[in-house]
Amino acid sequence: APAPPSALFIFGGYGDLTKRLLMPSLYNLAHEGVLDGHFDVIGVDHIEGSTEDFRNHLTESVHQLAAAGHEIKEPIWNWLVQRIDYLSGDFENPETYDRIRERLEKRMKEAGDGNAVFYFAVAPRFFSIIAEQLGAAGLMQEGDKAFRRIVIEKPFGTDLASARALNRTLLSVGGESQIYRIDHFLGKETVQNVMAFRFGNGIFEPIWNRDHVEHVQITAAETVGVEKRARFYDATGALRDMVPNHIFQLLAMTAMEPPNSFDADAVRTEKAKVIEAVRRIRKSDAPNYVVRGQYRAGTVLGQHVADYRREPDVDPSSRTETYVAMKCFVDNWRWNGVPFYIRTGKSLAVRRTEIAIHFKRAPGVLFRDKPDCELSPNVLVINVQPDEGISLRFAAKVPGRRVRLSEVDMDFRYADYFKAAPSTGYETLIYDCLSGDPTLFQRADNIEAGWSAVEPILQATSEGLLDIHGYVAGTSGPVMAEVLLAQDGFQWLPLEQGLMP
Ligand code: BG6
Repeated sequence: APAPPSALFIFGGYGDLTKRLLMPSLYNLAHEGVLDGHFDVIGVDHIEGSTEDFRNHLTESVHQLAAAGHEIKEPIWNWLVQRIDYLSGDFENPETYDRIRERLEKRMKEAGDGNAVFYFAVAPRFFSIIAEQLGAAGLMQEGDKAFRRIVIEKPFGTDLASARALNRTLLSVGGESQIYRIDHFLGKETVQNVMAFRFGNGIFEPIWNRDHVEHVQITAAETVGVEKRARFYDATGALRDMVPNHIFQLLAMTAMEPPNSFDADAVRTEKAKVIEAVRRIRKSDAPNYVVRGQYRAGTVLGQHVADYRREPDVDPSSRTETYVAMKCFVDNWRWNGVPFYIRTGKSLAVRRTEIAIHFKRAPGVLFRDKPDCELSPNVLVINVQPDEGISLRFAAKVPGRRVRLSEVDMDFRYADYFKAAPSTGYETLIYDCLSGDPTLFQRADNIEAGWSAVEPILQATSEGLLDIHGYVAGTSGPVMAEVLLAQDGFQWLPLEQGLMP
């Protein structure tokens, strides 16, 4: 069904996110035919310019996409581009917001609704400023025929205190139901599928607990380095950038109890409970739970990569981590004692995001005297990207007269079963926000719980209690990350050859 009509104001209209993700997603939504005829996009930015300039700028970037092989159908782009306007104004100037109000009043007269979504595709220092200005201008006041929503990108704060402060500001201008905090991992099909897989099947849930699961590994490995964001990244690091948000969302999807319904609050409450149950370690214990790494010169996918500290805009004596591995515990009834190991890093050998559930081994009695019959754990891997799928590793008898066991993999690949339309992952999120469904967005408590769980590690880092280990770019990360698991008797799934080569 088409989303309700509304005006989408994109703060940061000339920014990278608009060009790279929002416009392609809006194009895809237009292509699907789910944008209402009264849908409007208004870019807001401080750059002087006309609507025509803005349209040309976006048309050019869409053509770049087309040149890179994405199919762009002119009639669809033309349909969309006619609905795009530009409002040049300073985010800190109340006049900008007066002009937004005028536009919405005009819309009310012409289209019969004053619905508006305010998308903050801007640097985080503007988040509070724009929210406060929207509030002061009365633009967050909802009416019968006027919903008003804020979509806010990450980073949502840099620690617990700043995230709380930002939540306070947002919630002083609107209700929780008006605030859509993006975690783009939730837009990924495979992440949404975790719930379908766990709760839409009868055979997995009964063994999804401490009695049968030995440990869990969550990996988000990237081949890219700091790209052009060194200034941001060097002040942020892998932990802040990935863990309290994306990785904890994967953890929450994996560990949550079945919600009572698909209702947004039912789902988000169960997820919040998991993140709240993540053990808060003592900062003096951090070295036993956390490994921080930073890449050194190496070769990634055949390309030379410079030492992180020599990247432009990185402090040459930087101690910022580009890799982090952590042992977490979810201290609740279901997961008591089961370690959840997580790791994420830049400039690694491969790009792969996966959740691997390692089950307990079968009793070895039957095979105890047989050579070549060492039992390994069954492993279920949910491959989030790039080879989206699920696979299960189990033991099979190697054909022959002697009893010999070998591990084999049973694979399901999305691509083999479903012909999905190309997607950036943002389509679902934008559509859901326009339709008023916040299930895939972070509630204030989810965000704060995430920050609170990593707070001791942030403190240990800033007090110099955690070393930084070099790793060669293009490998699977620092050796100490292997030690983190080895001391518990486990091993990471090899990065270079996950279950699905
Ligand atoms: C972003 C991080 O939120 O997620 C980036 O800031 C990271 O550093 C990116 O590269 C990963 O997202 P994806 O969708 O490419 O896995």
